[in-house]
Amino acid sequence: MRSKTTVEHPEQKPVKLDIGCGMFKRDGYTGVDRLPFKGVDVVCNVEKGLPFKSNSIDEIYTSHFLEHTNNFIFIMEEFYRVLKPNDILEIKVPHWASFLAYSEYHVRFFTLFSFQEFDDGYPIVFRSSDKARFKILKRRFMYSGGRFTKPYAKVMNMLANIKPEYFEAYVSQFFPPKEIYFKLKAIKGSKKKLQVTLMMS
Ligand SMILES: C[S@@+](CC[C@H](N)C(=O)[O-])C[C@H]1O[C@@H](n2cnc3c(N)ncnc32)[C@H](O)[C@@H]1O
Repeated sequence: MRSKTTVEHPEQKPVKLDIGCGMFKRDGYTGVDRLPFKGVDVVCNVEKGLPFKSNSIDEIYTSHFLEHTNNFIFIMEEFYRVLKPNDILEIKVPHWASFLAYSEYHVRFFTLFSFQEFDDGYPIVFRSSDKARFKILKRRFMYSGGRFTKPYAKVMNMLANIKPEYFEAYVSQFFPPKEIYFKLKAIKGSKKKLQVTLMMS
């Protein structure tokens, strides 16, 4: 198990990270967590930065981790820094209306709109980061169920994702999805200057 200093990847294989993997690391991924669970390959506190070189990572997957983080913007900048251009960041977080979102270990909530500020394609009034630029490729509400609720989850997975923005704004509080899934692409090398408009209130 490695920790702290920069982690080298001399092999030619794609390097894929599962950040905050805990005990459930995705197969074929390098597990990163602050606790040395079985399967964790790199022990580090991601709030303080990722021990990987810039432009060295082929894919990042992170599930039920970001809601634990205080330095959310810095962590998104770290994901961006280590990813190679056009490579993929996959995120799963609890939906804000789900009971899963409410835990004493969680410090933030997510909506369908949470990652728009990193995508220049959205007319956002205020952007928190001028470093991390991503294109949102996909975002989906995710329902899952047990023995009796599976049919409900199946129907809701279909209905909620027909018009997701409308669903988030007007319906999600009545039929809370369990999670939201995002697929983002790291946009690097763009000459476009970031437009920051300060919010007037
Ligand atoms: C709820 S678990 C998610 C585990 C797994 N990804 C999943 O989806 O089941 C959150 C994980 O994030 C890790 N974590 C929380 N804050 C962290 C930090 N600052 N740096 C690294 N790992 C962190 C925890 O140790 C824990 O294993």
